[in-house]
Amino acid sequence: MTDHAELIQRRQRLLGKSYRLFYQNPLYPVKGDGVWLYEADGKRYLDAYNNVVSVGHCHPKVVEAICAQASQLNTHTRYLHDTLLDYAERLLATFPAHLNNLTMTCSGSEANDLALRIARDVTGNSIALVTRWAYHGTTSSIAEISPSLSINIGKDVRLFDAPDTFRDKGQWLASLRQTLDELSVQGLKPAALIMDGVFSSDGIFIPPAEEIQQAVDWVRQAGGIYIADEVQSGFARTGNHFWGFEAYQVKPDMVTIGKPMGNGHPVAGLVARSDLLDQFGEKQRYFNTFGGNPVSCAAANAVLDVIESEQLQINAQRQGLRLRRNLDQLAGHYDCIGDIRGSGLFYGVELVKDCESFAPATELASVVVNAMRDAGVLMSATGPKANVLKIRPPLVFTEAHVDLLTDTLDKVLENVQTA
Ligand SMILES: Cc1ncc(COP(=O)(O)O)c(C=O)c1O
Repeated sequence: MTDHAELIQRRQRLLGKSYRLFYQNPLYPVKGDGVWLYEADGKRYLDAYNNVVSVGHCHPKVVEAICAQASQLNTHTRYLHDTLLDYAERLLATFPAHLNNLTMTCSGSEANDLALRIARDVTGNSIALVTRWAYHGTTSSIAEISPSLSINIGKDVRLFDAPDTFRDKGQWLASLRQTLDELSVQGLKPAALIMDGVFSSDGIFIPPAEEIQQAVDWVRQAGGIYIADEVQSGFARTGNHFWGFEAYQVKPDMVTIGKPMGNGHPVAGLVARSDLLDQFGEKQRYFNTFGGNPVSCAAANAVLDVIESEQLQINAQRQGLRLRRNLDQLAGHYDCIGDIRGSGLFYGVELVKDCESFAPATELASVVVNAMRDAGVLMSATGPKANVLKIRPPLVFTEAHVDLLTDTLDKVLENVQTA
């Protein structure tokens, strides 16, 4: 029996089956502040999971910007408005020069949907290439390229192995090569290769730059373009770079962004080469009723202000190094930690049954995630076997927060081991 059985039943009755909750004992937060979430009885939880609120829950500068703009004007992108242009200018300055146009959407799914539409339109090809356990969103065309979401993979979609730096080191390229060769035999060509900057749903991987470069080269030679999905890995999360793809020293043709862009306000977008958007725009138009409205742009501008003024990219880098050091120490004590990988404030801890077979410890990961929740620290598990602990806190994490997280993980693993 959970603490909130009645509420859960009401939710199921009203919302139906496809809505899922986190944790065996679901959380019922009523207030957020910085890195903390609070339940009504005052119990607080260290948020090591929510990357959307990347500058911290209810950051006063973002709240203020939203309130100020909402009390003045909120319309859409069919009227002239400075805030959108100011935002576009600032945002595009963070990208390589060839990525020089921005289209605003409300969600990462819409951004990916548009990117795929453009890729198919400008290349004249139909096939989308995605990793085997990818997640790119929820529209019907994007659900078709999100194998981790459902089994309904589209007929114009081909899967290849994710760059698993732990188990398969480099083997994924052979899988991609084979996929491209099979397409060629069938007389088909790729429209796009879409890759998450950190392969989050595949298990959190940051492969060597030259492997990604090779993959992009092959796809371009076969007639496709490269879409970098930065919905999770963008906006300074990986610490060393502002955008995840920068680690690979390769130039995407389009980049999709979202999640942390408005710190919880629904704003997302597509950044692309203007020649691609021009070619697409000659035949079709794009309008998104809420995408890029003045309130969304005010929120997004405030997020950039905070990332800059609080030096959150440097903080992500610094705290990421501490997190890595602490996790490495834990790995020295616990056999169930098979691998630790990530960058900045985006880490995966792969749990295994033992350090000989390295068999995925799916059940253990679930036990750990739930025990961490009960001990007051929020995280989750990812990957095809759901055995990779996913640590992805707001970027305002401090040393004390990192230590609290790893000390709690230490206690939880100790308890599990002795249970
Ligand atoms: C890598 C990636 N791309 C796209 C999306 C879809 O974004 P949204 O939920 O805003 O539609 C997500 C959401 O989790 C994501 O993780």
